[in-house]
Amino acid sequence: EQVTLDGFDHYMLKEIYEQPVAIRNAMRGRLDDQNATAIFGGLNLTPQQLRSVDRIILTGCGTSWHSALVGEYLLEEFARIPVEVEYASELRYRNPPIDPGTLVFGITQSGETADTLAALVETKRKGHRTLAINNVVGSSIAQAADGGVYLHAGPEIGVASTKAYTSQCCTLAMLALYFGRLRHLSYEAGQTYIKNLRLLPAAVEQSLSCDVQVRQIAEKYQSASTFLYLGRQYNFPTALEGALKLKEISYIHAEGYPAAEMKHGPIALVDTDTPSVFIVPRGTTYEKVIANMEEVKARGGPIIAVTCQANPAIDDLADDVIRVPAIPEYLQPIVSVVPLQLLAYHVALLRGCDVDKPRNLAKSVTVE
Ligand code: G6P
Repeated sequence: EQVTLDGFDHYMLKEIYEQPVAIRNAMRGRLDDQNATAIFGGLNLTPQQLRSVDRIILTGCGTSWHSALVGEYLLEEFARIPVEVEYASELRYRNPPIDPGTLVFGITQSGETADTLAALVETKRKGHRTLAINNVVGSSIAQAADGGVYLHAGPEIGVASTKAYTSQCCTLAMLALYFGRLRHLSYEAGQTYIKNLRLLPAAVEQSLSCDVQVRQIAEKYQSASTFLYLGRQYNFPTALEGALKLKEISYIHAEGYPAAEMKHGPIALVDTDTPSVFIVPRGTTYEKVIANMEEVKARGGPIIAVTCQANPAIDDLADDVIRVPAIPEYLQPIVSVVPLQLLAYHVALLRGCDVDKPRNLAKSVTVE
């Protein structure tokens, strides 16, 4: 398939803008209104095997590892299955006890990452059910796994993953619904969940409208040498992903942290030249993250806030406020990450970096 820029300056920008469509494609044919669940035809698990799953391991590298963290929160909350997230590069050389009810998911855009493939093959050798969440049809991992799910995000060319990440998160959200409905999740809760999933494409579309504002913010902070990204709960992985995006393509040092951990180290980095990006939509820990913002402000640190509704406390504390549409907390990371992708893009561009082909990085790391 010939992939073109279609009028965009870079593949990364094009792929950021493709996210509403990619998410729609990830969901196409997978939402079952009648039974208030999701449909996954390729898992190759018998109903008996599906019900006996009592532990899930999610493994991957880079951005895919971040989507695994979102998946952990989703699966534990909605399917009530204990989940562990492992770096594939670590899992492949560890020998953790894995009982027969454990399902291992390898998450990978390319399906060719050597560590993820090796981790999957190794766990399969030990007799465990292995599944792939993968974007490239017929990839090595798709072939090695017992079954899996394709993202249908379309080819991703930019080295920094964007649409594959949000599609992975969306797919994991559907898997949480699927496993939840095989267990305790009620019909009614399943219906509400589906209704909320359907809000995603429009919410992501709307979040793209911050592009011009984000470009201005990027101009302001393009010379910073360190950025902090802070979020909690479902948006802790968003903080990690925002920091990774900036690092990958602009070469600025960035750290992502759970906001409450700030006091155990990262706060020492705060000074007037170090911007902190707070991902603070509404949710369980909303007020607590605002308290963390106060601590940064008290030390003179510039603040960029990604939030939903207007809130005078946030408007007061933050130097820049980016608003994204509000969506239930468990789907918010798929919306909140968009301004962070754009921020990394614009900062990198302003610094003259090669956005689509950053130095030292490869789109898919097929060697160890
Ligand atoms: C490389 C890419 C990252 C990607 C990671 C995992 O490091 O530069 O963008 O997240 O590999 O790739 P995968 O294809 O397994 O998701």
